[in-house]
Amino acid sequence: MVVAAVAIWFAFNSGRPTPAAAGSIPATQALRIPELAPSSMVDGVRVFHLEAAEGRSAFLPGLSTPTLGYEGDYLGPTLVAERGEKVRVEVDNALDEETSVHWHGMHLPAAMDGGPHSPIPPGERWAPEWTIDQPAATLWYHPHLHERTREQVDAGLAGMFLVTDPEEASLALPRAYGVDDIPLIVQDRSFASDGAFGGGLSMQFDGVLGDRILVNGTLAPYLDVSTELVRLRLLNGSSARMYDFAFADGREFDLVATDGGLLAAPVASSSIPLSPGERAEIVVALAPGDRVSLVSTAPDPALHAGGAAFDVLELRAGASLAASPPVPAKLADLPAPDAADAVTERAFEMSGHEINGAEMDMSRADAVVTVDTAEVWTVVNDNPLPHSFHVHDTQFRVLSIDGEPPPPRLSGYKDTIALEWDREYRILVRFDDYADPTTPYMYHCHLLWHEDQGMMGQFLVVEPGDEPALKSPEGDDD
Ligand code: C2O
Ligand code: CU
Ligand code: CU
Repeated sequence: MVVAAVAIWFAFNSGRPTPAAAGSIPATQALRIPELAPSSMVDGVRVFHLEAAEGRSAFLPGLSTPTLGYEGDYLGPTLVAERGEKVRVEVDNALDEETSVHWHGMHLPAAMDGGPHSPIPPGERWAPEWTIDQPAATLWYHPHLHERTREQVDAGLAGMFLVTDPEEASLALPRAYGVDDIPLIVQDRSFASDGAFGGGLSMQFDGVLGDRILVNGTLAPYLDVSTELVRLRLLNGSSARMYDFAFADGREFDLVATDGGLLAAPVASSSIPLSPGERAEIVVALAPGDRVSLVSTAPDPALHAGGAAFDVLELRAGASLAASPPVPAKLADLPAPDAADAVTERAFEMSGHEINGAEMDMSRADAVVTVDTAEVWTVVNDNPLPHSFHVHDTQFRVLSIDGEPPPPRLSGYKDTIALEWDREYRILVRFDDYADPTTPYMYHCHLLWHEDQGMMGQFLVVEPGDEPALKSPEGDDD
């Protein structure tokens, strides 16, 4: 059965027609930039508001697509908060079904994390509050209901959450939002003839793959550039597709940050692979009059779902460009991770739709860890399907891959990594500050269909000596 499944998967992924048309669609639409979310200060707390509601979007000429969005028809506004600030997000569920909102990459108490244990019934408000306490980074938010995450994310519920801090702010990096600091939420979609999402490529073993690329909800986008350097905050917001981002003319760029924040120093790169949920901040230089496309090249089918080439975004530089200071040679203090800091080791084997031979069970704690400690987690993808590994609450460091030091692009803070088949990833994971013996955090494959199928586990963070007391999820009576 597994062998047959694998054979079929390879047939799909190697013989699948390349959506060649996607590579040749001229960029015709100005890139949408998600609005900055307004906020108000109430008793020293920065308060945001997000309403999840149904909408309709005009992606294709003359057709309207039913979508979901926060504060609008598709996707959501960009939240920005500074390290040290207390924030509250008032989430109103105006859908006719349950939802939840998870702050992907955020260090925060489990009860505020927005996972499957925090459903918001239709018509109700959920208002988590926490203090931002982590380095400047590009984070994001999306629904996280057990077994229904993919559906809601694919329909449009997702947005960015940018954390700022004084160290990052003191660096000469582009940071004018929407001008030279650009959020890019990259998603693949396909459209039925009436404009609805769906049609085209169907369910694969890795989930649903689309044959068109949306960036911030824009098909075939271009961006007018007015500065010599542009910072692109790339988020793979797709549910299954993996990308390998590069520029069509092969030009190099600086990779300056990954999931959890700045790298120690810029890494000169010609491409950057991202699996679903991962982020990368890159800085690219343009000359006056340049027209160059950010593309995704066909990745290795042994790792990547649906290897195919896509145009992602055309950058159009103006005839004259405002000067940008050079990218600083040093970005952040990033001490080397030390496995000796770990108090214990655990192993995670990803296979089929299971982790360590078990599917997700809302009433089972798969691991209990002690607050303010670090652990070494060893993760192996045991079958030749694409998988990834994401851990809530924390930013981890990659110690080694098959015993070798990780490539520079995996040298910083990460919350999600792609897992190549049959390689051993050792990561150092810290669990600081927040103990709660009743509410778990999640770890899972971030290919959303796999996650929904049960490729997820739960861990509790407890005070030393405390007994775990995982509370049964509301409304779960089996
Ligand atoms: Cu972005 Cu548990 O997810
Ligand atoms: Cu997450
Ligand atoms: Cu998976």
